[in-house]
Amino acid sequence: MFLQRRNRILRTNASIRSLVSETTLKPADFIAPLFIDEGENVAFEIPSMPGYYRYSIDGTIKEVKLLWSMGIRSVLLFVKAADEMKDNTGKEAWNPDGLMQRTIKAIKNALPEMIVMTDVALDPYSVYGHDGIVEDGEIVNDPTVEALVKMSLSHAKAGADIVAPSDMMDGRIGAIREALEQNNYIKTGIMAYSAKYASCFYGPFRDALDSAPGFGDKKTYQMDYGNRIEAIKETLMDIEEGADIVMVKPAMAYLDIIREVKNAVDVPVSAYHVSGEYAMIKASAKMGWINEDKAILECLTSIKRAGADLIATYFAKDAVKLLS
Ligand code: PBG
Repeated sequence: MFLQRRNRILRTNASIRSLVSETTLKPADFIAPLFIDEGENVAFEIPSMPGYYRYSIDGTIKEVKLLWSMGIRSVLLFVKAADEMKDNTGKEAWNPDGLMQRTIKAIKNALPEMIVMTDVALDPYSVYGHDGIVEDGEIVNDPTVEALVKMSLSHAKAGADIVAPSDMMDGRIGAIREALEQNNYIKTGIMAYSAKYASCFYGPFRDALDSAPGFGDKKTYQMDYGNRIEAIKETLMDIEEGADIVMVKPAMAYLDIIREVKNAVDVPVSAYHVSGEYAMIKASAKMGWINEDKAILECLTSIKRAGADLIATYFAKDAVKLLS
């Protein structure tokens, strides 16, 4: 048989495959999400996220040191607020001595070079489990943005490197940027959850923080998963308003969106490989139906290939181990 081109030549062995490989993961690609709890010596395994824990600040510091030693350079913090701290204003979110603020200081104190990113949204602090303030059964935009601004300023004051609004209210990136400027936090970055879809894949996360919405769903602020053009509109507006990094979330069911966003913007793009995506791999591996290690690397590589410069993933540590 005469063939002009034999594509298999470049797949002959591992050496040649490594020469022509297009996508490689590295430890600094990963953002490690961390769940924080009050107390001491707390290490609570999240039932729907086997192998993933919610730690008190002491355990969090140990974890962050381990992540650093593995080459991971950023963490994304989520706190579990006690029930008695929850209300419909979110005011615990900007308490200077709140759990988030204490955690930021403790991490920056222990490891000044670790990039500390903080979740900005009211759901952990909301009696309704919604990302904003509720009036007459609706999540009201503008009062929520005012609250998010206070929350962001208090994170910046505590030493956060990057605030990460995950709420999907309109105008919050511009308002937060303006407030950071006015208060001279000119080194604080903003990673905007720009194309965040109303997704069933956040279920285990809401278990981790006990933050499931008490009524309704999040469809009046998070995006309809059938929409593509809207993702570009949201992302470009966030960049115009001052976002340093933009995000697509979830990741695996939205690889097309990651690619379109990547092609449309000139800022780094992150993708959030969310809790339900973690749980799916864990569950099928537990059943013996897929190989967990291979699934982790294939999924994360596909997210990077799609166009993500950064990946927030609960598999950050596993991936680094598998890569080395
Ligand atoms: C809430 C928030 C959610 C996640 C990150 N921030 C849940 C939600 O929007 O209901 C989900 C992360 C995950 O599932 O891993 N602002």
